[in-house]
Amino acid sequence: MRSVITGSGISVGAHVVPNAALEKVMDTTDEWIRTRSGVQQRYYAGDGVGSAELGMAAAEDALRAAGRTKEEIDAVIFATMTPNYFFPGNGPVLQAKMGFRPSLPTFDIRQQCSGFLYGLDLADSLIRSGKYRRLLLVGAEVHTPFMPWKRGGWASTIGQDVEVTEEMRALNTKLRDRTVLFGDGAGAVIVEASENGDRGFIDAKLFTDGSDIEALYVAGVGFRRRPYVDVEQIENGEPIPDMNGRTVFQQALIRMPESVRAVCAANGISVADIDVLLIHQANLRIVEGVAKQLGLPPEKTPHNIERYANTTAGTLPILYHECVADGTIQPGMLVCFTALGSGLHWGAALYRA
Ligand code: ACO
Repeated sequence: MRSVITGSGISVGAHVVPNAALEKVMDTTDEWIRTRSGVQQRYYAGDGVGSAELGMAAAEDALRAAGRTKEEIDAVIFATMTPNYFFPGNGPVLQAKMGFRPSLPTFDIRQQCSGFLYGLDLADSLIRSGKYRRLLLVGAEVHTPFMPWKRGGWASTIGQDVEVTEEMRALNTKLRDRTVLFGDGAGAVIVEASENGDRGFIDAKLFTDGSDIEALYVAGVGFRRRPYVDVEQIENGEPIPDMNGRTVFQQALIRMPESVRAVCAANGISVADIDVLLIHQANLRIVEGVAKQLGLPPEKTPHNIERYANTTAGTLPILYHECVADGTIQPGMLVCFTALGSGLHWGAALYRA
């Protein structure tokens, strides 16, 4: 028995935010953002819209595409590092608001940029174990609330007439290496058991190395602190993600090719046999670097970071969905998913479409 993706859907924030909108709230340029990251625009969600809401919209489309009803779903896996609440996770929010049966089990997982990849392996394992036959897997993020933009920034980027003071502009500029890279978005897939052995998940190799936690993490708002959040932490900016861009960049260029080679070698497959490599969309230069190291041509390594920026757990399902929709992924093709993100967590998964 294999597990196969039978439908997918996506949803992004309501507001398209081109690089020019960020020039208004910090010292940056469209040129810097395009050449250093490949991002041209991203989507920001409006007030009151969280990752659960974006995830639910993507899930509705995925169900429709798979021709499945909510009653036919046995369990949900929701991957996000930006849940609506500190706890519980987005699983119960989605279960209740979408109207799934009250006893539906839901798993909330994190793994940041590798969240969807880890979710795929978990879904496949749960199906192969015989425990469930049909799962909904969601990867969704709303990053904009991480930024201290309330008083001048976020509202301005989505077209509201808000004054950006010099003080706010200076703070936004301090965070420009992170803010320009992220967008709000979600993707969802239905994963089902299939007796047709020609299609479906082949294998995944997942890895974690916590020695680089501080390369990308949120220092504050944690339960080793008493209380877990206080004014001092907020004043120090500790709820804002801290990132060593160079370390993450270098690790991404080493770890993703390594894990693609590892999953191929373990399954007697040559890297050149991959028809489509879906690479986590964090930076176009990373995508191109991974493709180059693996000797895969641009037509096998699609990207959409130009339009969405980095949507963390949302990037792989959004890219998968678009590649199926535009015919880049055809039935029978060998697809490989790979990601690296905060943790650090990384890995690769092989799938026969
Ligand atoms: N606009 C203008 N200038 C900027 C900006 C900006 N938005 N951001 C940084 N700069 C400046 C820096 O201040 C620096 O100036 P200086 O030389 O005067 O000090 C200069 O640009 C160069 O900075 P670098 O850090 O060397 O730029 P680099 O080319 O390395 O790109 C970047 C930085 C884009 C952050 C890159 O390192 C990167 O993409 N890293 C990976 C990040 C990543 O993948 N993160 C997400 C993982 S996802 C997850 O798990 C959530």
